[in-house]
Amino acid sequence: MKNRVDVLHGVNLDQLARRDPEVYGRGTLAELEFAIKGFATELSLELTFWQTNHEGEYCESLHLASERADGLILNPGAWTHYSYAIRDALELSGLPAVEVHISEVDSREEWRRESVIRDLCVGRVQGKGVAGYREALELLRAEFDG
Ligand code: DQA
Repeated sequence: MKNRVDVLHGVNLDQLARRDPEVYGRGTLAELEFAIKGFATELSLELTFWQTNHEGEYCESLHLASERADGLILNPGAWTHYSYAIRDALELSGLPAVEVHISEVDSREEWRRESVIRDLCVGRVQGKGVAGYREALELLRAEFDG
């Protein structure tokens, strides 16, 4: 049965607690991951977390993703809005993926409304903070259960 999920945090997500608390809240990435882990346990999903500030490394983790995961949760940070390299690597992975943003990107600056990965994903969640990751895991659970 499919149950393995890679959660791939992109650029600047390691600095979460230092970013604008009005937009991102006050939690650290470690606290976010702790909460996501709790949601995953309830849904009987196994998680692996990854974070990098290097676009090529993010692509490389997508290259290898199908060897260790059945589905993906992606928050590529600002790369979401312009990285065709990440888009191509995601397509290559062949895995069902959900795009997640902590903030509501569609009501922020114009440039954040673009997502170059959106159409490759089975779902997109934004503006729900930590709870958005639960929704993303639920979408993958449904995808795995067919
Ligand atoms: C983000 C939104 C992006 O526009 C931004 O560049 C980020 C975080 C979010 O989770 O809300 O780094 O992906």
